[in-house]
Amino acid sequence: MKFFVDTADVKEIRELNDLGLLDGVTTNPSLILKSGGNITEVTKEICSIVSGPVSAEVVATDYDGMMREAAVLSKIADNICIKLPLTLDGLKACKALTSDGRLVNVTLCFSATQALLAAKAGATFISPFIGRLDDMAIDGMDLIAEIRTIYDNFDFKTEILAASIRTVNHVKQAALIGADVATIPPATLKALVKHPLTDKGLQTFLADWAKTGQSIG
Ligand code: E4P
Repeated sequence: MKFFVDTADVKEIRELNDLGLLDGVTTNPSLILKSGGNITEVTKEICSIVSGPVSAEVVATDYDGMMREAAVLSKIADNICIKLPLTLDGLKACKALTSDGRLVNVTLCFSATQALLAAKAGATFISPFIGRLDDMAIDGMDLIAEIRTIYDNFDFKTEILAASIRTVNHVKQAALIGADVATIPPATLKALVKHPLTDKGLQTFLADWAKTGQSIG
């Protein structure tokens, strides 16, 4: 499973990339707002840190506008992945851009039929939003499972990018179901390493080691 980080915070991205944990980055207009930076400058800096796909989202809602913005965003770096909303215009732009060899992430997916359309439009990634479905008392993981089945039934190559992840358990469940990628907020990504028995075990080993009076090297 590939790990993308879901943020436009350059400091966090640099830190996680240095740990060797990042396969890509996803941003959206809300994350750009949170970063406080200009979309072109922030995205350019992110692309200089991470070599994998960096999703940058269009804000136009019509096909021509999306294509215009996609052309501008594509010029930022070679690893830009154009993020398009799951609308008819978004799907039309997806088909045009992927036919032209561009990476496309179709976002705001909340149903299996939407995911089916995105695959037919040639999307590189489909982003089902788990957390936002959970917020409405609908199990987001069921959607991931449905999309996995449909894509496997027809051998679609579109990668399932589990998005709107809020917990460590979301990552585990998405991995078990077979999502290709998870885009994870920085704090949740770092929390994946945590286990109280690891901390306790390490403390015991270090305390016993101190009693031996030895050193290594
Ligand atoms: C996906 O690419 C989105 O940026 C993101 O996962 C949305 O998450 P949220 O529902 O926590 O805003």
